[in-house]
Formats: sequence, C-alpha cells, structure tokens
Amino acid sequence: MKRDRIALLYTQAQQLEGQQVTVAGWVRSIRDMKNFAFLTINDGSCFKDLQVVMNRETLGNYDDICHQNVGAAVVAEGQLKCTPDAPQPIEVAAASVQVAGASAPDYPLQKKRTTPEFLRTIQHLRPRTNLFRAVFRVRSVAALAIHTFFQSRGFAYINTPVITASDAEGAGEMFRVTTLDPANPPRRDDGTLDWTQDFFGVPVSLTVSGQLNAENFAMALGDVYTFGPTFRAENSNTARHAAEFWMVEPEIAFADLSDNMDLAEDLLKAVINQVLESCPGELGMLNKFVDKGLLERLQHVAGSSFVRITYTEAINILEQAASEGHTFEYPVQWGTDLQTEHERYLTEQHFGKPTFVTDYPASIKAFYMRLNDDGKTVAAMDCLVPGVGEIVGGSQREERLEVLTRRIEELGMDASQYEYYCDLRRYGSCQHAGFGLGFERLVMYLTGVSNIRDVIPHPRVAGNADF
Ligand code: 4AD
Ligand code: MG
Repeated sequence: MKRDRIALLYTQAQQLEGQQVTVAGWVRSIRDMKNFAFLTINDGSCFKDLQVVMNRETLGNYDDICHQNVGAAVVAEGQLKCTPDAPQPIEVAAASVQVAGASAPDYPLQKKRTTPEFLRTIQHLRPRTNLFRAVFRVRSVAALAIHTFFQSRGFAYINTPVITASDAEGAGEMFRVTTLDPANPPRRDDGTLDWTQDFFGVPVSLTVSGQLNAENFAMALGDVYTFGPTFRAENSNTARHAAEFWMVEPEIAFADLSDNMDLAEDLLKAVINQVLESCPGELGMLNKFVDKGLLERLQHVAGSSFVRITYTEAINILEQAASEGHTFEYPVQWGTDLQTEHERYLTEQHFGKPTFVTDYPASIKAFYMRLNDDGKTVAAMDCLVPGVGEIVGGSQREERLEVLTRRIEELGMDASQYEYYCDLRRYGSCQHAGFGLGFERLVMYLTGVSNIRDVIPHPRVAGNADF
C-alpha cells in the first residue's frame, strides 16, 4: 500500500500543502464534537502525532469511526493543510477513513499515565507509548552512528560467533548450549558427563564477549569492531544488568591504553552529537518527562573532555569522601573492585562528567589485560558516566607470550581453550588494545531511562524471559 509517512508530511508540509495524502497508523484519541471530530493518529515514523479532521456531512462512516477504540489501525485519505495558527502545524481534512483493524475497549494503553513496571508486563504493546517510541528511535539512530563512526575511520565490521568453547572473560558466567537430554545425559564410566556425545563434541556456551575473536582479526585487518549480542549468566538483579545485551567491541592494533581511551571518548561524543542532531523531538520529550537534566548533560559532554584518573587516585578520592562523612554501603579499600555507588560518586558528585579510571589491580581484572611494570596493576580502563556508572570496559592486551601464559596458569584456567589466543603472541604479536561498550547502557545514558529493562525490546534478566 502506498502511504505517506507522517514524518514526511511534517518535513515537507510547504510542498505538500493542498495535496491529497494517505496516512496509516494507530488511533491515539478521538474527540467527537458532534459535527466535527478530531482523530489523532501516530504511524511511528516520527515522534509527532497527526490530527485528522472528520466532517459529519462528508464522511459516510463518521459515526463508525467515532466509535472506534484507542489503538485501532486506520487508513485516512484527504487534503493536507498547514494550520500555522493552531497548536499543531498541519492537519489532514479527511475525504475517507477506513478501519484496517479495530481495537478492543480493554486496550491497556489508555490516556492515563502508566508506570514502567506495568509496561514491562505488556511488552508487546509498550512500543506504542511515547516513551518507547522515543527510546527505540534513539537506539536505532545510535546504532547507525556507531557504524558510521567506525566505518569513516576505516575499521572493518566483524561478526564474531555467538556459540563458543572459550570463556572470553574467564569469569565463568556462561550459559551452556547443548542438545543433550537434561533428564538422561550420556555419562562416562566414572559418572562424569560425556561431552563427546554432545552436538559439538565439546562443552560450548553463549559468548560473553567477542573480544578474543576480534583480536584475531585486529592482528590481520588492523582496526576492527564487532557489534552483536552477548550473554552473561550473572545473577545480579540490578537496573544495569541484563542476561542478554548488545556490545560494541573495537580492537585496534599498534595501540596502547591512551589510544584506546581517545577512541572511546571520540566514539561516545560522535554518537551523542548524532543523536542530538537526529532526534530533537525524542530528546525533548525525554528531557521533559524522564530526566530533566538530559539535554544539558548531553550538550555539555559533547563539548568537554573526559576526566582520566588511575584506580589508585580514585580510591584516594573515595577514602577522602568517606572520611568527610559520605557513607558508602561497601567499604572502600585498595584491591577491591569499585561498586556502582563508588563509580557514581566519582562521575556524578566528584567530577560531574564522564571519567576514565585506569590501572586497576590485576587481581580484580581479566586474564588478558596487560600487566604494568609495577607488577600488581594492569592497563585497564573503565569509562564511568553520570546516571549509569560503567558504560565502557577495556584494556591494553597482554602481547607478551610468557606473561600471558603465566597469568593463565596462575588463575588455574583451562589453557587448552586459549591455545589460539596464545598463538597470536607467537606470530607477529604487537601492542594492541580494545574495549567493550555496553549498547543498552549507552541507550540509558542517551535517554535518561534508569532501568536497562526499558531500553531493550524484550529484556532477558534472571528469572524472566517473557515475550
Ligand atoms: O567490562 P566488560 O565485562 O568487558 C568485556 O567484556 C571486554 N571483553 C570488552 C572488551 O575489551 N572488548 O563489559 C563491557 C561493557 C561494560 O562496560 C558494560 O557497559 C556492558 O559491557 N555490560 C553489560 N551491560 C548490560 N548487562 C550486563 N550484564 C553487562 N555486563 C557488561
Ligand atoms: Mg567491566
């Protein structure tokens, strides 16, 4: 069916004025004034609704349309009019209105305000709310901005496997993938599971990160990035953790930690600028109803440089804050990981802008991070942002074979899983670095939405995989 997107009617109102147009969308409201009625519809092409004016005299099915319920799908034809003196700049004077699909009176999205918690129970309908249309338009624009950023810098886009035999983070938070019968799996004589009879002949899981595979390609194509789904079986029921989320992972050859931070900072700024440019309506709505400081924060970040401090400096700042009476739930101590409350104190209260924390203790970071000369910290970097906490995690990679194998050994990891990874250090190893940007955390940051469940179409979190 040929239809005119509502977005186009707004952007080309001058040229289209007086012409016959066909719009198709879902009813947001119907106001019957006896001889005239106002039908407000939205087709999702842009943030704005369109007003369709119906005249009882000329519209044969006037009463039928007026009795439709909110949520009905309709197709309206008529003349486009510019209405500079009315609250809405354009409207369509209906010559005909057809119902494509009626809606039942119990349509759950009525005019009254709803809570995000309630909307999570109707995930199939929540995209039709202003909030979700705005969030998912921003998500889509951000995705393209990421590709554009990397492609314009000559990075190659690599798709890494979802099913894998290696634990890229070495943290053991993986979902097992198997075709074995859980009720009656094949066992060896000693009672252990016989994985040779499984589909791949070895135990495999859903990937927690594409990094190790991306490194293979960085050592050939130079600059690469992945952008795909990743999975974590961490049982943390927080507003920032999902079991299935999307990650953007660049990997750059002949690069150190400082190059890595420059890349992350440039990427975040480029995405913010693109969203500011492409989504003014969405951001305006989010700024009004979700997070009053959103626009100011995004504009500020796009034009200022990020803070860079070491983990040790961060601990000093936090200890100072604690000694001045700031209470943290978790104690601050060199050697322990930063908790969300610590991350947020640093980025929100202390610095008030995005902050890189570098050089963490080796004992709390992954095996592949490059050991610093002090022998106890690694060339890691996390980027913390106000409202979200950690949005980026990355590092310079350990390029020295003997240091890497020692580390794998020390941690008691299964060295056979990482043979290919060590091989890279045998055949033309070089300084290299990369990071992972949590895409949902980025969308939270760009929209001000405070729960990860509301920036992903159908969230998968511990205890819940509905829809
Ligand atoms: O810090 P992480 O665990 O780093 C890695 O996975 C590295 N292999 C990345 C790399 O260097 N290529 O995860 C990276 C980012 C985090 O900063 C966070 O934004 C996001 O991924 N993330 C999650 N997002 C949502 N739910 C979860 N459970 C997440 N775990 C990590
Ligand atoms: Mg991390």
